[in-house]
Amino acid sequence: MLTGMKKTRNKKPASEKKPWAGRFREKTAEAVESFTESVSFDRRLWRYDIAGSIAHAGMLAKTGIITPKDAEKIITGLMEIAGEISQGKFKFSKGLEDIHMNIEAALIKKIGPAGGKLHTARSRNDQIALDLRLYLRSEVNGIITLINDFQKTLADAAEKNINAIMPGYTHLQKAQPVLLSHHLLAYAEMLQRDRQRFHDCLRRINILPLGSCAMAGTSLPTDRRFVAKLLKFDGVSANSIDAVSDRDFAIEFASNAAILMMHLSRLGEELVLWSTDEFCFIDIPDAFTTGSSIMPQKKNPDVAELIRGKTGGVYGSLMALLTIMKGLPLSYNRDMQEDKQPLFGSVDTVKSCLTVLCEMFPKINFNKDKMLEGASKSYTVATDVAEYLVGKGMPFREAHETTGRLVLYCIKKGKRLDELELKEMKGFSNLIGKDIYPHLSVEGSVRSRASEGGTSQKEVRKQIKRLRKGLGAPGAAGPRN
Ligand code: ARG
Repeated sequence: MLTGMKKTRNKKPASEKKPWAGRFREKTAEAVESFTESVSFDRRLWRYDIAGSIAHAGMLAKTGIITPKDAEKIITGLMEIAGEISQGKFKFSKGLEDIHMNIEAALIKKIGPAGGKLHTARSRNDQIALDLRLYLRSEVNGIITLINDFQKTLADAAEKNINAIMPGYTHLQKAQPVLLSHHLLAYAEMLQRDRQRFHDCLRRINILPLGSCAMAGTSLPTDRRFVAKLLKFDGVSANSIDAVSDRDFAIEFASNAAILMMHLSRLGEELVLWSTDEFCFIDIPDAFTTGSSIMPQKKNPDVAELIRGKTGGVYGSLMALLTIMKGLPLSYNRDMQEDKQPLFGSVDTVKSCLTVLCEMFPKINFNKDKMLEGASKSYTVATDVAEYLVGKGMPFREAHETTGRLVLYCIKKGKRLDELELKEMKGFSNLIGKDIYPHLSVEGSVRSRASEGGTSQKEVRKQIKRLRKGLGAPGAAGPRN
């Protein structure tokens, strides 16, 4: 504060004066100003704050609460402010606490007393709820598009590598041969559910809270449905107390983001594993790896590791939001200001992870020979032998045991199943004939798994087709932005 300034009340320039100054005898302590401010982070909502205010001003004029002339002044002023902010010319002040008061003060400074009419029939409580909903609506639509893009990337990789066979795992032990494309499409399915979840949460985001005012509505003759129409909301909130105190839509978003990140993290883990010397299933190009500052030979899969690591932060955001809201009495409480950073954090993380994956994934080189070699080892066709015996009339449990004994025999002899002589196999069951051999190759195994959703090429091609049909389909992204 300026030295020598008299300790009279509210000697700040008019534009810095707190809206509540009338009731207060002392100015806010600086420690409190910096502790309570949110403009350092909620400024990212400026575009939505201004869009909401423009619609609100339009409604105030339409209902005769303010004159059309004042509304025009307000709207022109707000548009100028939007220009200043986007050009980086706007001076944000922490003394003005949040984005709402910064913009309102600038408006009053710019257009005079008419600017003071904008806050009629609204409060920052419904205003912040509006801004958050507009912000999330736009971000969710962007995220849906990014998920769609990454699904397409996976479908392309699946199609390109349609013949590649890899070992499928359970318990991280080799289980059965599968198509690499089948494995990749498993992620596309997870992402499909993610996309649906984000799409679904848009329905609850897209409800107008503005007009709930502080918490009880207003005595002024507002028209909330008019505002909803201007801002392309699907409906207006039904209960003003709920509207200013609801953050379910943000929690739902964070929860969807957490599930999505869990999926990306699993993929990240597989990329890390597959790029090891031990697996050697993939090579990640230099441009998407980093080296070590001490070990000259190292090439690390940091992008995949960081995707895995960043998942922690997104889970944390969900927990933060749930905990902030837990136990809050109705209606608005200042605690709710703490919702922004976790929310913004999850939006940023999800977007950056999807973006980098879309760029990196098509450049990954799959070592198909290594994968095939891996699939051919460890008796991955044993289930095929059991199913062959079932086809010959043996009950499955018996077939399982017989095959188990065959595998044990192979381990002892150091042979693969397809290296056994027919007479060696006949020693285990007379049902085994020459026609077993096609069942002992990994290619035969894959081809035979033609059950719906199975790993046969035919089924996987169907999966790709179905996936492509759903990509970018109308309604794949939200109805509006
Ligand atoms: N900055 C506040 C928030 O983010 C805006 C609403 C403040 N309302 C209030 N009455 N102090 O929640």
